[in-house]
Amino acid sequence: MAAIAQSIALLLFLSLAYLSHGGITSRFMRKLEASVDMPAEAFPPPSGHNAPEQVHITQGDRNGRGVIISWVTPLSPKPNVVRYWAADSDEDHDHTVRSRITTYKYYNYTSGFIHHATISDLEYDTKYFYEIGSGDAKRRFFFTTPPMVGPDVPYTFGIIGDLGQTYDSNQTFEHYYSNSKGQAVLFVGDLSYADNHPFHDNRKWDTWGRFVEKSTAYQPWIWTAGNHEMDFAPELGENTPFKPFTHRYHVPYKSAQSSSPLWYSIKRASAYIIVLSSYSAYGTYTPQYQWLKNEFTKVKREETPWLIVMLHSPWYNSYDYHYMEGESMRVMFEPWFVENKVDLVLSGHVHAYERSERVSNVRYNITNRLSTPIRDINAPMYVTIGDGGNIEGLANQFTEPQPNYSAFREASFGHALLEIKNRTHAYYTWHRNHDNEPVAADSLWIYNRYWYPEDESSQ
Ligand SMILES: *[C@@H]1O[C@H](CO)[C@@H](O)[C@H](O)[C@H]1NC(C)=O
Ligand SMILES: *[C@@H]1O[C@H](CO)[C@@H](O)[C@H](O)[C@H]1NC(C)=O
Ligand SMILES: *[C@@H]1O[C@H](CO)[C@@H](O)[C@H](O)[C@H]1NC(C)=O
Ligand SMILES: *[C@@H]1O[C@H](CO)[C@@H](O)[C@H](O)[C@H]1NC(C)=O
Ligand SMILES: *[C@@H]1O[C@H](CO)[C@@H](O)[C@H](O)[C@H]1NC(C)=O
Ligand SMILES: [Fe+2]
Repeated sequence: MAAIAQSIALLLFLSLAYLSHGGITSRFMRKLEASVDMPAEAFPPPSGHNAPEQVHITQGDRNGRGVIISWVTPLSPKPNVVRYWAADSDEDHDHTVRSRITTYKYYNYTSGFIHHATISDLEYDTKYFYEIGSGDAKRRFFFTTPPMVGPDVPYTFGIIGDLGQTYDSNQTFEHYYSNSKGQAVLFVGDLSYADNHPFHDNRKWDTWGRFVEKSTAYQPWIWTAGNHEMDFAPELGENTPFKPFTHRYHVPYKSAQSSSPLWYSIKRASAYIIVLSSYSAYGTYTPQYQWLKNEFTKVKREETPWLIVMLHSPWYNSYDYHYMEGESMRVMFEPWFVENKVDLVLSGHVHAYERSERVSNVRYNITNRLSTPIRDINAPMYVTIGDGGNIEGLANQFTEPQPNYSAFREASFGHALLEIKNRTHAYYTWHRNHDNEPVAADSLWIYNRYWYPEDESSQ
């Protein structure tokens, strides 16, 4: 199998970017191979009896002083305790917290014991060790809490979407992992792609959890639900959407006064992050609509200058894939995004990369597919980054000519980094898997819409 990975040779001719009607369509070409999942044996369970596995952490409260630690024990529910202590204090000054345990069945699959333990009231900007399991199965990890929420706090987010568990996924993941800058990951949905296998083989959820553990156990991944999280399969008697996902991945939605884990918000450093669900009702009067309407009133740009929204299905997308799928949600919510000067909207779903100009009010001719967006200084920049490298392969057909809302697009796998410097400036880079990590195939300074609403495209 490793030979396959190596044979995913990249056929490159120079990134002969050329200008069309709109922005840049990068002509960087990669040879297409069938996307193949890595074998389960590549990610064996850790050694030791009933050893905790699939360890992952996420923010556990509103402001970043809480962490949810999650893991799976395959054979029995105990031990169900996390021991943790500040790295600069004595290990004897430890604390313990008990997990809440859940299990679920999916068709003929029965999950292990899924643990979620919430630690709260940690110090800001502090490294902690934590330990789970016992005896020969004891495992130790660490994380660093974010700095106190404030307007000029620098912070760097990784951005990854539609990851899956193929050899391409491994490249994306390892590429992000090799860069020490990322402090937390904004994950825009579609995790394991278990549902692409017969009977939604939920063992793929387990292998995915083990695959990403070396990052997710050490830094929070902020989760968004995508279509591959739905696992809605009436033909298998599985009628509860999002069942595996919501059992396995907990998020702090209650502290955001949300009624569902599928939409919520957090504050982290200088960012206010709103997560929406493209696959839950959002029409007028729905819970998500009412929550979001109220949510914007809570954002104080004096406190958190950077307003970032994550949602799976993109609103501005010039690929032939999932064309206009995000349109009804755009029509519902775009006015709020513009009025509230959202800085950045991150999406996945389309398995390629695209970055927009600041535009709003796109109008489509649905017969000829031409569109006319309006340049809008108050509008978000839209990034589509569903290019994690999953089993469904690359989206490599563009709509032509390139619409003028599209600033840059390229059909390659990769990930991005958002380096927030202060209340006005953030440096954004996109890294294609083919290059070494320090190389940025697309990069720009992003200016904050509230504090410094200059036009980036004129730079
Ligand atoms: C579920 O059933 C399918 C079809 O019979 C089988 O291939 C698969 O191995 C079973 N999975 C489990 C977890 O038993
Ligand atoms: C994933 O990538 C890493 C780093 O390149 C490599 O060491 C590892 O063997 C890869 N895993 C698989 C299953 O190919
Ligand atoms: C939409 O496109 C069709 C087909 O090209 C064209 O006939 C029609 O006039 C266009 N409509 C508008 C409002 O531009
Ligand atoms: C795209 O073209 C339309 C129509 O010519 C124009 O109104 C709009 O401002 C342009 N948008 C951008 C981002 O250049
Ligand atoms: C914010 O960061 C940018 C980029 O590093 C820098 O040029 C600018 O001077 C900073 N602004 C302030 C007020 O420090
Ligand atoms: Fe998707």
